[in-house]
Amino acid sequence: MTDQPRQSATGESAPQKRWGETSRRNFAATCAATTGMAMVHSSAAAAQDQRELRLALVGCGGRGRGALEDTLSINENVKVVALADLYQKNCDAARKLVGRKYSDKMDVADDRMYSGLDGYKSILDDHTVDVVMFATSPGFRPPYVLEAVQAGKHVFAEKPTCIDAAGYRKNVEAHDLAVKSNTAIVTGTQYRRQTNYVAAVNRIHEGAIGDIISAQARYCTGQIWYRDRAEGMSDTEYQLFNWMHHVWLSGDHIAEQAVHNIDTINWIMGGPPEQAYGVGGRHQRSETSELWDSFGIDYVYPGDRVCSFMCRQLGKTAYDNSNMIYGSEGRMLIGSINKPAIQYNRSGEEVWRSEGKISLAYQQEHKDLIDSIRAGQPIVELKQTAASSLTAVMGRVAAYTGENVTWDFLTTESKLDLFPESLQWDGAMEAAPVAVPGKTQLI
Ligand SMILES: NC(=O)c1ccc[n+]([C@@H]2O[C@H](COP(=O)([O-])OP(=O)(O)OC[C@H]3O[C@@H](n4cnc5c(N)ncnc54)[C@H](O)[C@@H]3O)[C@@H](O)[C@H]2O)c1
Repeated sequence: MTDQPRQSATGESAPQKRWGETSRRNFAATCAATTGMAMVHSSAAAAQDQRELRLALVGCGGRGRGALEDTLSINENVKVVALADLYQKNCDAARKLVGRKYSDKMDVADDRMYSGLDGYKSILDDHTVDVVMFATSPGFRPPYVLEAVQAGKHVFAEKPTCIDAAGYRKNVEAHDLAVKSNTAIVTGTQYRRQTNYVAAVNRIHEGAIGDIISAQARYCTGQIWYRDRAEGMSDTEYQLFNWMHHVWLSGDHIAEQAVHNIDTINWIMGGPPEQAYGVGGRHQRSETSELWDSFGIDYVYPGDRVCSFMCRQLGKTAYDNSNMIYGSEGRMLIGSINKPAIQYNRSGEEVWRSEGKISLAYQQEHKDLIDSIRAGQPIVELKQTAASSLTAVMGRVAAYTGENVTWDFLTTESKLDLFPESLQWDGAMEAAPVAVPGKTQLI
């Protein structure tokens, strides 16, 4: 019998008690992140079981290859033994590109590369694989992660981990099962492990800016990629290929990209908001994209604290990707990527600052995953990322429908399930209509 962590409903650690106590597993991860590089290089502290761990990747695109490099660069005695992707050429590219840098840690035989929609199943059936990393388009994350946990695998899951209410429920099921089975689930919310983020959030929780009054979060950038249809592609294949622009696969950019900021605000507030109300629309998207390009959401957190959130993907507009937390005694600015966290007093004077590097945070999540497995205390953090992913869905649904949407409704009543009932590689598949507030239904 393992020592089970005590967690809130969302798995969130709790600065204000309302959301439950800090779990031992989350605490271990936070400590690791707080100490940054020192912890990165002190594997001996956590390592008890030094047996080689065998890794596999499902989704060999840009981030999948990045995640392979992150784990191989920071972990010893690990080996990548299997790859899966819709396309064989993406498996080939991952093996070649990552193998060039980490030849001693890549041992993927030709018959351990799997293509097509069912390729991941061969990895789950492989009893020699310990850890499966998922970096497909997000729509596949809830069923794949749940099946991986059911197969007894340790998991690394990229964000967002769900893009609808049905997916959230699968995430919760996977989390609970992993806790019971003593297997790990670490997620790609790297800012939770970035030293300046951890330092700033700790200061906020210790009261450095007084009581939290409100927050402002922005993920405003230029246009995202769009992939043209190649000759011979079926509707289904094309949607899978150009996945960013289909809501059942990406969740729209509020979930796909801006979930990072939403996750940071949830972390600071101690859990997800109670309700969301929002606006948005599109100005520059391609006709065949289902996405909006602008969202503005007011999230109301417990304690009547409001986060004014916006995200935008519009060319030739001002970039702002940051989080600002307003307290009774000052404010904290937490910049994204490699920007510093800066604390200001009520007169607007800088009183504290901390720098951090995102590349180290990307490595740290994989270090924490492997260390926790070796120490026999696997981190299970899916619920907190599921909550942040569902918070993004809550904002999207509020804006799409024009309704006031509550957390209770989404978690208990909503029937929102965007995953197609049948998915045939060569099948016909219509794009979903672009949402229109007042017309799009809240389900
Ligand atoms: N944490 C971060 O900062 C960060 C950064 C970039 C991307 N990501 C996340 O990583 C994920 C992938 O993003 P990307 O930029 O690598 O996209 P990508 O399009 O470059 O790669 C996705 C890959 O998954 C494959 N794929 C899709 N469905 C599959 C399936 N059912 N089975 C097997 N393979 C499948 C595709 O063929 C493709 O090669 C997304 O969830 C994204 O949000 C996270």
